[in-house]
Amino acid sequence: MVKDLHVTLSGVELQNPVIPASGTFGFGQEFRPYYDINMLGSISFKGTTREARFGNPTPRIAECPAGMLNSVGLQNPGVDHVIAEELPRLREVFHQPIMANISGFSVEDYVTAVEKLTQEEQVALLEINISCPNVRHGGMAFGTSPEAAAEITGAVKRVATKPVYMKLSPNVTDIVSIAKACEDAGADGLSLINTLLGMRIDLKRRKPVLANIMGGYSGPGIFPVALRMVYQVTGAVKIPVIGMGGISSARDVLEMMMAGAKAVEVGAANLVDPCACKTIIETLPQEMEKLGIERLTDITRVE
Ligand code: FUM
Repeated sequence: MVKDLHVTLSGVELQNPVIPASGTFGFGQEFRPYYDINMLGSISFKGTTREARFGNPTPRIAECPAGMLNSVGLQNPGVDHVIAEELPRLREVFHQPIMANISGFSVEDYVTAVEKLTQEEQVALLEINISCPNVRHGGMAFGTSPEAAAEITGAVKRVATKPVYMKLSPNVTDIVSIAKACEDAGADGLSLINTLLGMRIDLKRRKPVLANIMGGYSGPGIFPVALRMVYQVTGAVKIPVIGMGGISSARDVLEMMMAGAKAVEVGAANLVDPCACKTIIETLPQEMEKLGIERLTDITRVE
């Protein structure tokens, strides 16, 4: 059963729409013992900042019945190390377009990291994270105000030579206004949603489970929220949207695309089953067959 899984994001063709979400796949190496990662549509690598970051104190993870909380705090080796070490290693085994996920704490931070990563040949798409809930300054603060979101978008667009996808936070009253502000400021596309701010308390200690008290909730529990936001945003903007939030099966992929997403990212599922993306890609044709879908690009927005 041959099905056409190709999708296109701002002129960048992907062999299928499945992209491991930033922060759940490192720079790809840990997943190589499990499968040939070259089968993925793309990889959104760990959120990279201008300087290396150690991240937040531990514990940083709390399990929940339908997902998990993380408060990693943007741990990463910094943009120069990523370019010198991680990208060359990834290039040896991964020959698909790469999505560079970039975070920052000021406009200058974003611009500096984008200026460097946009020059990397295999980096085909830039995903600008203005939605990390786990850092005190920057991060989500830029993604919860239309003005700040537009400012980062405009600054990054002035130096980017690759399509810019702004990654949005669900921790807002009106995600459509943020999405439109990014579109008006020149964004080529949008990624949504990042994690929902949450917390857990350890009953015995009567203290928060996470050292940082709060963290970002991800996993199957957030899928209906993500789907709703993707539906609202794609109904309001003309630029392409990558849908994410709790996707863990091929059927979730199809549902997210019917809501309006042009491609998807799979996050927490990678941490439950390292082969989650492989299984999703392999089972997509069967699920498409059951639903009478020949090409993924035929899936139209349901009204
Ligand atoms: O804390 C973290 O590194 C997570 C980042 C994010 O959700 O954007």
